[in-house]
Amino acid sequence: MNTIKFDLSKYTYTKGWFINSELHRNLHKFTNTHDIYNVLEIGCFEGLSACFLSTCLLNNKLSTLDCVDPYITSGTDSEITSQCISDKTYERFLQNIKNSNNYEKTNFHRLTSDDFFIENKKEFNFIYVDGCHEPDYLTRDVENSFNCLKINGIMWMNNYGGGKPPGTCKKVIDNALTKYTGMYEIIHNHYQLVIKKTKLREDVITRSKNIKTMVVTLPRLLDRRKHIENLLKVYNFSDVVFTNGIDGSTCTKTPVEGSKNLFRIRSDDGSEILYNSNYRNGIGLNVGEIGCAWSHINIYKTLVNDDSSDVYLVLEDDIEFSVDKEELREYINNLPPTYSYDLCHINKSTWFPFKKNESVLSVNDYYYTPHKKYFNNAGAYFITKAGAKKVLESITKSFGVPADDLLSNTNLSNGSFRLIVPSKCLVGPGNMVSSIVKTN
Ligand SMILES: C[S@@+](CC[C@H](N)C(=O)[O-])C[C@H]1O[C@@H](n2cnc3c(N)ncnc32)[C@H](O)[C@@H]1O
Repeated sequence: MNTIKFDLSKYTYTKGWFINSELHRNLHKFTNTHDIYNVLEIGCFEGLSACFLSTCLLNNKLSTLDCVDPYITSGTDSEITSQCISDKTYERFLQNIKNSNNYEKTNFHRLTSDDFFIENKKEFNFIYVDGCHEPDYLTRDVENSFNCLKINGIMWMNNYGGGKPPGTCKKVIDNALTKYTGMYEIIHNHYQLVIKKTKLREDVITRSKNIKTMVVTLPRLLDRRKHIENLLKVYNFSDVVFTNGIDGSTCTKTPVEGSKNLFRIRSDDGSEILYNSNYRNGIGLNVGEIGCAWSHINIYKTLVNDDSSDVYLVLEDDIEFSVDKEELREYINNLPPTYSYDLCHINKSTWFPFKKNESVLSVNDYYYTPHKKYFNNAGAYFITKAGAKKVLESITKSFGVPADDLLSNTNLSNGSFRLIVPSKCLVGPGNMVSSIVKTN
């Protein structure tokens, strides 16, 4: 029986979904009414659950509730589940929440949860997920919520036993949670699923341990090789692999029959790749750029098949670090877990400043997600296995852009590509795509 006194007669509502919910009946088992709660609710409808959370969890003066709902009128967006939403629903929500006990501690965001999470910088210790039940939306809600849930925080998910057909939401939620295995415990499992975040996963703590450093270098450029070897020794790097990059100046280029822009490029080790010369209005890449981009592509292929590492630090052979070794180590140690990003670009770029400010989404004290914009320079970056796969997927048949554009274009064209950058430039300025052998 619910022991929290919640007076429904104060509120107007057309649907009683909340009244019979497990949240209503069980919240008191997992919470203490006078503790500090920073609550997030995704999907508010007429506000009954929001008013309940406001009444039960906001009694401490430091508690807050953030409510997120776009109130998209039913039937106007085929992708979004918004049953029973009319132009009256939002008004009813506002009226109800104003009547709740702790109204002054509530914030409302008339946004989809996706848009809310793009801007959100807050962490919460109680999250009620009850928004759009479509698989893609639900997956992102579970992931984004988990990522901003504090340790020991509770994530309460509605509709676990529902969906069309029944069982659909369970599958989606279970699947979304697999990547957090070992980081939470289930504290209630019925029509609603409730979990408690317990700890950071082991690989979050030891994350810097399996980074392999892949240096792009050419055997004939001995000075560069010496330079990077010394630099990495001074900076105490271990687990370094010097890859023999493709020397564009020794490649042969044969037109592919029947195509104006397609060429078969063959390197002196006998490997081949298809190249499209459309770039720069048909001028294409110079041989140095071809060799350089191909070398980076080969590294992504190696990473995808490397069972011993999930992330590579790719370095061109003429870079210089712009921070000392202690600071570099601190940034590396604070890289977020590999499952949470695709590319971490650490090289100076002409196109985005390394500045964490109010308008960007913070990842932690060291990294942030920049606005989606073009960036250049591929002299130094961390790329995860997932990131390497996404870049390779962007090359359908042939490649035709320099190494830095390949990364930047993937970021711009693939909505799920997760780019992060450090709060400070770690490498650079260096040359633009520095390992390019300047020859035409
Ligand atoms: C089941 S109702 C929420 C019921 C409410 N929690 C309660 O118990 O009274 C689902 C709500 O999710 C909202 N919604 C739909 N798509 C959404 C999205 N992408 N982001 C956030 N909320 C969404 C709908 O507008 C609707 O108000």
